[in-house]
Amino acid sequence: MDLALLPPEVAQAHGSFPAALAACADLDGLMRLKGAFVGREGSHAARLMELLKAAPKEEKRDLGAAINTLKNVWEEGLKGRQAELEAARKQAAALGNAWDPDLPAPCPPTGALHPLTRLMDRLVDVFRPLGYHVEEGPEAETEAHNFDGLNIPEDHPARGSADTFYFKEQALLLRTHTSPVQVRVLQRIAAVGPDGLSELERAGGIRFLAPGRVYRKDEIDPTHSPMFHQVEGMLVGKGIGMHHLKGTLAYAMKALFGPGAEVRFRPSYFPFVEPGAEMDVRCPLCGGSGCRVCKGSGWVELLGAGLIHPNVLRLAGIDPEVWSGFAFGMGVERTAMMVSQTPDLRLFFENDQRFLKTMGGLD
Ligand code: DAH
Repeated sequence: MDLALLPPEVAQAHGSFPAALAACADLDGLMRLKGAFVGREGSHAARLMELLKAAPKEEKRDLGAAINTLKNVWEEGLKGRQAELEAARKQAAALGNAWDPDLPAPCPPTGALHPLTRLMDRLVDVFRPLGYHVEEGPEAETEAHNFDGLNIPEDHPARGSADTFYFKEQALLLRTHTSPVQVRVLQRIAAVGPDGLSELERAGGIRFLAPGRVYRKDEIDPTHSPMFHQVEGMLVGKGIGMHHLKGTLAYAMKALFGPGAEVRFRPSYFPFVEPGAEMDVRCPLCGGSGCRVCKGSGWVELLGAGLIHPNVLRLAGIDPEVWSGFAFGMGVERTAMMVSQTPDLRLFFENDQRFLKTMGGLD
């Protein structure tokens, strides 16, 4: 439409129509705008109809078509804006009716404990009724606690810098397992108090869990990470044997996986225990018939364990002729992957909420 054909005030009004429309904040305002543009009398449309009437016959057809186009633009615009304002009014009314000052305020989404933390908490809950408490140790450890005190020989491959993160300046390393907490606790409870008795003697024994992060120089892949978690367990008492260890762990696995959980022990070697063992549980996914998780064997390896080596007690200042005990160390990610059927360990560290929220298997 050639705006030059229009009377200047109509052309100007048409130019500002979109802005005027958007500025209408309510239906009353919109009705006023409607009156000014397409109302029966005195509107811009009425003005154009008069113009059409007065136009010479041969111009009427083109002018009429142009005026119609213009009127359509106005009417469509007004209709659209009316629908918007009515919807807004309805929504406001609905909100007004629904607002109940006695209802609790809507809560922002809250965080939740990480699945690995929940699994470690659950293990602690399983052992707490058996008298176990939680002990902690530093992640930046000394060689003395991480290796020497655990009877690990000087030439053991784990001591090499290919497997262990060493700090450059200090004689420290990132602990490669939670077992150094054993050494720290043993040294502490061996220390004699003012009454001439050690904490161990006063308490008649000790039992604890030590959950935490450990580090190894492993490339990240679906089953390895340079940082992962372990839960260490230890009991020191008098006359402790493999039967105590097996009974305790069999009980704990039933508490963790259900009353049908079965365990088996295989002889194994760790320098800080004698005898040493590895414990498997009957695959909780397939029940033992064989699946991807247990690689067809029906069993999955869960932890290392054994009776505390006399050297470990002696090095900490505890008499192995009087005291004995057991220890075990469990991989948390490995257990979590099994329980939740998670095929890739990296999912635990990527903080993808879609994964973390579906960790129902760990609740
Ligand atoms: N520290 C061992 C590891 O990292 C696991 C372990 C084995 C812990 C035997 C123990 C134990 O307490 O008795 O592989």
